[in-house]
Amino acid sequence: MKLIDGKGLAHTIKEEIAVEVAAIKEKGGKIPHLAAVLVGDDPASASYVRNKVRSCDQCGFQSTLIRKDSSTTEEALLGIIEGLNEDPDIDGFIVQLPLPKHINEENVTLAIDPKKDVDGFHPTNFGRMALGLPSYLPATPFGIVQMLDRYGIETSGMHCVVVGRSNIVGTPMSILLSRKAKVGNCTVTLTHSRTRDLSAETLRADIVIAAIGIPNFIGADMVKEGAIVIDVGINRVDAPERKRGYKLVGDVDFDAVAPKCSFITPVPGGVGPMTVTSLLLNTLKSSKREIYG
Ligand code: GUN
Repeated sequence: MKLIDGKGLAHTIKEEIAVEVAAIKEKGGKIPHLAAVLVGDDPASASYVRNKVRSCDQCGFQSTLIRKDSSTTEEALLGIIEGLNEDPDIDGFIVQLPLPKHINEENVTLAIDPKKDVDGFHPTNFGRMALGLPSYLPATPFGIVQMLDRYGIETSGMHCVVVGRSNIVGTPMSILLSRKAKVGNCTVTLTHSRTRDLSAETLRADIVIAAIGIPNFIGADMVKEGAIVIDVGINRVDAPERKRGYKLVGDVDFDAVAPKCSFITPVPGGVGPMTVTSLLLNTLKSSKREIYG
């Protein structure tokens, strides 16, 4: 069994980005600038956004964090988005999800200029991704593609089972792995809460992508010998013995599943850090006008 070290790989990629940004600076070019909007006080979201801002610093990016309390109206948020769309210094921005219930996430996603949508959530970017056109790829699936690529894992002809059909992970992941590309050419099964006999599906998988948000859901009896297992889950579970009172676990029962795998990602330190790296790569692409000119 080989552990896929997402944390280490993210560190390497961030160093590569920092070298590129330093060269841009030296030539007097524009420093990439990412903005993040955080509405409300969800502790997990606040921690993800802090991480994104810290990673910008590590790579020499400029960053702007806009924090608003949970009573912020949809109209006010749409106003902030309009300002960011029009600000020539901002190369890309994200609105951290989930949003408070009174704000319609669809309206928010649609309001973001696709040219600055470094999350790749806007239908224009999602559609371009599905058609194989240049686009900002959603951060988590893009991070997984990079992991598979950098670890030299052959995906062509493999049967990949994605567990979970969310707009931001499962569905785009299934599209990316089925496309004709270096990391791709898989036969993909996208499973979800209505799938009959889920274990029968996952047991046939050469690659399992677990993205359902249920702690330790994928057990050893659901994975075949030699499978590659990518765990997208970041679940907080009570751990009174820890100072913070909780610990992070994935959607995969790591201790039980790992001995059967050829490759597996840990939680924490697997997919999570790669997600942030993807966002930086998308922002760098935006500052270089690589996607939309
Ligand atoms: N919430 C969970 N993952 C993400 C992400 O990749 N982007 C944003 N904006 N919100 C998220």
